[in-house]
Order: sequence, then C-alpha cells, then structure tokens
Amino acid sequence: MEVKQVLHMNGGLGDTSYANNSLLQRKVISMTKPITEEAITELYISMNAPKNLCMAELGCSSGPNTMVVATELVKMVHLPMFQLELQDHETSRGRVSPCFVSAVPGSFYGRLFPSRTLHFIHSSYSLMWLSKIPKEVELLNKDNIYMASASPRQVIDAYYNQFRTDFSTFLRCRSEEVVSGGRMVLTILGRKSEDACSKDCCYLWELLALALKQMVAEGVIEEEKLQSFNIPQYTPSPTEVRKEVEKEGSFSIDHLETLEIPWAACGKGHYPAGAEDRYYDVGSCMRSVVEPLLVQHFGASTMDPLFDKYSKILCHRMANGEEAKFVSVTVSMTRI
Ligand SMILES: C[S@@+](CC[C@H](N)C(=O)[O-])C[C@H]1O[C@@H](n2cnc3c(N)ncnc32)[C@H](O)[C@@H]1O
Repeated sequence: MEVKQVLHMNGGLGDTSYANNSLLQRKVISMTKPITEEAITELYISMNAPKNLCMAELGCSSGPNTMVVATELVKMVHLPMFQLELQDHETSRGRVSPCFVSAVPGSFYGRLFPSRTLHFIHSSYSLMWLSKIPKEVELLNKDNIYMASASPRQVIDAYYNQFRTDFSTFLRCRSEEVVSGGRMVLTILGRKSEDACSKDCCYLWELLALALKQMVAEGVIEEEKLQSFNIPQYTPSPTEVRKEVEKEGSFSIDHLETLEIPWAACGKGHYPAGAEDRYYDVGSCMRSVVEPLLVQHFGASTMDPLFDKYSKILCHRMANGEEAKFVSVTVSMTRI
C-alpha cells in the first residue's frame, strides 16, 4: 500500500476532524507569518509591482487552515489579479473573488505545475510526511513505530535517506515550476537537536506505541500487526534542511529558523475540568492527523479505545511535569 493512498487528515467537520483539531497548525502558520510576509513583500518589490501573482499552497488539507495563508497574502499586496493553486492528495474546488482558485490533486514529490509559472509557494506541516516507508524500516523496526533510541542504526539511516531523497525530489520539481526570483516558504515539523531520535520529535510516537502495546496486551491488537506498523514521517533538523537545499542548488536560503510551541497549544479548552486534562486535546489533534493511517492497518473498531488510552497517557505524563514541545523548521528561499 502506497503512503499517498492512505495518508490524509480526518475529513469533514465532526469531533475528530482535522478542521476542528488543527489549532496547533494554525498557530504555527500565524507564528511564521512575518517570514511569509517578508518573502511576499520582497517578491513584489523585485518584480516591480506585477499585475498578477500565481501562488500555490502545497499540502493544503481541508478546513480553516487551507485558505489562511492565501487570504493573508491577498490582503498584503494589492494586485488586479491573483491565481491560487491549492494542492493536496485530495481534490477540492472553489472560487474566491478576486482570486482564481483551483485544486491540484497529486503528490508534491512529483511535477504538479507547468514550467516557470509559479511566483510563490507556501507549505506548512506537510513535508515531514515521506513518500514511503523504507524497506529496512519495515524489516528491522519491529519494536517501535517510529525512530526510537532503541531502533537499529540501519532504521535511523533509512528514515534519513528517505527524507533526503523525497526532499531533494520536491526541490527539483519546484525548481522547474517557480520563476527565477520566485519565493518559497516551507515549514516542516522538525527538531532542534542533531540527534534524530531526540525527544523533540519522537516522544509523541513513543507514547502512541505505548497505547498500542497496551492493546496488544489486552488481546485487541495482534502483536504481528503492531510489529509491521511504522509512521512514514521524518522530522529534520535545520542543518539537514540546509544541506539538502544547498546540495540541490536551485534555491538560495534567505531565512532558516526553528520555533517551539508547547503541546498545550493544541488546546481548544473543550477538555473536562481538571488541570491534568489540559493535554487532552493533544490526543485529539494527533487523532485528526494519523487516524486514517491507523484505520488502514488496525481497523476502525480499535480507534476509540486506542485514542482513549493515548489521551490518558498524554495527560498523565504532562500532569507529572513533562514539558514537551512541537518544534518547527521554517525555511524561506529564492529561486536562483
Ligand atoms: C498536517 S496536514 C497540514 C495541512 C495544512 N497545511 C495546515 O497547516 O493545517 C498535512 C497535509 O499534507 C498532505 N501531504 C502529505 N504528503 C503529501 C504529498 N506527498 N503530496 C501532497 N500532499 C501531501 C496531507 O495529505 C495533509 O493534508
């Protein structure tokens, strides 16, 4: 099964939907807004007040975050015409005056747009998703669902190599599509540390693995099922991002920075009363992101008990003083 067939956020507007549980991702978009604003302003100046701009939002998903950046950009620079491309694995279609909006289905690890047609690309919290699970990970990462300090070295290397392949493919495809002087701002869920197994990025998955193991112990999930499940994600450090951009060579880096946001930022405030439940929403946020992947592997009937256990583990850890954060790496670049 290819990752692109099973990787999408929870749709609709229900309690477990991405639309209703993506406050964290919206906060990240708003925290990186100054970088996006600077890129678009410099683009506007360098293009000598152009008559139109063509922009693409890659990995736009569905819900309020889809249009946040585009709406801000339209307000920021006053032009007679905008063309906006919304891209994801899934299709959506719409029209917002005065923009022409179109939906582009497909994977961003391939060509999506005609050559030299885009002026600006934005993508947030999407590029950490890999195009596939490397073979070595499937074969050797039996006791974990992601990279962990106990994972064999070959597993960590295979995850990193897959990120390098995917990210450089992404850069090469976009380099064909963006006009010279065009800009790209990418925010990727990442890590600060150079250690790929650091808590920055692995802890959330480690706790999800604990919940899955509890279900194995209860006989609800088969052990072999758990052993063959891995998360198709790699959370890079800023150094790793810089290395790939420089190696590919089509873009020059204007800014590269990390930002941290505590887990509690997921909170919608809808949790039950009690201090430890402040973290209840971290589980809901994770569910809206990862449930389709898990359903495919473990079946829909295991989801409610699984996320109940996961939320309890998260609340318990947090109540005992664990201070975890999401780390994002933002890179702003110009097409040479
Ligand atoms: C966490 S959501 C982020 C959505 C939105 N950008 C935000 O910040 O709220 C990640 C999105 O990336 C999309 N995605 C992941 N890999 C992709 C790929 N190879 N091609 C296109 N979209 C991809 C997923 O389908 C998902 O909708």
